[in-house]
Amino acid sequence: MVGPKAIINLDRLIHNYKLVKQEVGNKKIMAFVKANAYGHGAVPVAKALESVGADWFGVFTPEEAIELRKGGVTGNIMVFCRFHPEFLEKANKWDLTLNISSEDDLNDLITFHGDMNSSPRFHVKIDTGMTRLGLPIGSVSSFFNLLKKNSQLNYEGIYSHFATADEGDLDYAKFQLEQFKGVLDTADKMGLSFQHVHLSNSGSVLNLPESYFTMVRVGLLLYGAFPSDEVPRDLPIEPVMEFTAPVVNLRKVKAGTLVSYGGVWSAPNDTVIGVVQVGFADGFPRSWYEEGCISLKGERYKIAGRVCMDQLMVDFFNANVKRGDEVLLFGKNKIDSIPVEEIAECIGSTAYVLLTAIGGRTERIFSGLE
Ligand SMILES: Cc1ncc(COP(=O)(O)O)c(C=O)c1O
Repeated sequence: MVGPKAIINLDRLIHNYKLVKQEVGNKKIMAFVKANAYGHGAVPVAKALESVGADWFGVFTPEEAIELRKGGVTGNIMVFCRFHPEFLEKANKWDLTLNISSEDDLNDLITFHGDMNSSPRFHVKIDTGMTRLGLPIGSVSSFFNLLKKNSQLNYEGIYSHFATADEGDLDYAKFQLEQFKGVLDTADKMGLSFQHVHLSNSGSVLNLPESYFTMVRVGLLLYGAFPSDEVPRDLPIEPVMEFTAPVVNLRKVKAGTLVSYGGVWSAPNDTVIGVVQVGFADGFPRSWYEEGCISLKGERYKIAGRVCMDQLMVDFFNANVKRGDEVLLFGKNKIDSIPVEEIAECIGSTAYVLLTAIGGRTERIFSGLE
């Protein structure tokens, strides 16, 4: 097929997983594979991780979880979106772990247990400062009281989420950590204990080991990118995705020729303009054109003019290029790399945004595992 390709190097994924495993010692890892494994392909990624011992997976919706089950993933799968009563039967049927973040959610579980005499597994979400989902600290005791009265329910975990763990200033993360410890203390005093306790994400795996508890939840590091430029970057992770596209057209133009929409780019000299078949509809970051480049045979060439929906143009100047050559858009091939973090920093975005955007007509090719 002619068009963009995301080559997913599963051997690099496993390399990254093993590095994170070394970093966190005997703690469990919940591999975050939501949003199609951050654009990498959820089922092949989860199965590759399962083959090296990963036994917890984080997704956002029940549909994402069921896709994993249908694809043959047998490990624990936790669904992180706000609980809805319609998840209960799905959770029982597909053995999913639910996210319970309010007394209303707990009451729905109690009613379901009354009707069906069964309870899906769930983890209790505490809001320690993200102000998204979760029990506010002030309502924890009343929630725990209700939980204690309903010990038939299958509560197996408790967790919270950092808002700033990937920042250089960790004061707020440390505040959240203390809040969370306070909640664990309250639970302990009330005689409640949880098998799985988790708070850490990629940022805090790198810079806050005291937040590991029994399990860490890791996404971005597994895919070989760092969450920000403020975290220590000494873990030798490898980019899993190699995003490429073919040169489909070449043409000589005179100096001053305008290229692409708006005519905002003009050839600085007589040159060769190539058309590469990838555009913003495939997830290529449109705003990367101003400073942006691609790599051909280990050399970088400037993107010429605005990125279009399906194509972009490149100033190949005196390159040895022919129709059909594949260019590297980001990631790493055998001779060059364009880190997705470099693009993100340049255009004021993040690796999360750029990776999860990859889609459209992009073909995913899985390599690196038998
Ligand atoms: C609740 C929760 N935990 C963990 C993660 C994983 O974060 P990261 O990719 O930074 O490791 C996410 C990602 O968005 C999340 O929402």
